[in-house]
Amino acid sequence: MRIYRATDYDDMSRKAANIISAQVIMKPNCVLGLATGSSPLGTYKQLIDWYNKGDLDFSEVKSVNLDEYKGLSRDNDQSYYYFMYNNFFKHVNINLENTNVPNGTEPDSDKECARYNKIIEDLGGVDLQLLGLGFNGHIGFNEPDEAFEKMTHCVDLQPSTIEANKRFFEKIEDVPKQAYTMGIKTIMQARKILLVVSGEGKAETLYQALYGPITPHVPGSILQLHPDVNIVADEAALSKCPR
Ligand code: F6R
Repeated sequence: MRIYRATDYDDMSRKAANIISAQVIMKPNCVLGLATGSSPLGTYKQLIDWYNKGDLDFSEVKSVNLDEYKGLSRDNDQSYYYFMYNNFFKHVNINLENTNVPNGTEPDSDKECARYNKIIEDLGGVDLQLLGLGFNGHIGFNEPDEAFEKMTHCVDLQPSTIEANKRFFEKIEDVPKQAYTMGIKTIMQARKILLVVSGEGKAETLYQALYGPITPHVPGSILQLHPDVNIVADEAALSKCPR
């Protein structure tokens, strides 16, 4: 495990974007596992900036996103596809046909999860998986539980996750109650992991994930077992971790 200490959110975003850039430069047709949320937003902005300067080329890159709300269509402004399209895809030269996000409008969970697992398998797995960390320790939408879930599956979101995400919806009733997400096994099979964490509010969770017991109660703690995990976090998020 390698921890990159950033001074603040912007520094974290630049350091994380550097790691993704290195991946894209070293392997132009790589498979990037992508995440949504506030943590990677600055990373995407930095990548777009470098793309605009002519330093990056995404034309051969393929992507698979971690998760999507069940029940939301791509054009819903709270869907994760909408987030990815508007915050990253439309600003760079990635071929939209090479981007993948679970289909939130597929009501048959077994069918959608099998389809998504097959996509990842056919792509030959993920080269670099970008992750954020939930306040409750979730990665993707793998919520704290009795057991580690495996491949792509449908989850019931926890009240704390619904609460954390309600800021994006008009009212809490509008927050979807379920999501499709890559499982812990899918994430752990990525060849390289990049976890970005910012802010004091995540400090205790980050400490538990990196230094606490490996337990499904803190899903991010499983990353301690991954052979190539890179954590880019700011001073505030690392404030409870040993130097
Ligand atoms: C997003 C995802 C989630 C977020 C996590 C942190 O695709 O899978 O696990 O990474 O909820 O969200 P932020 O970054 O908004 O604090």
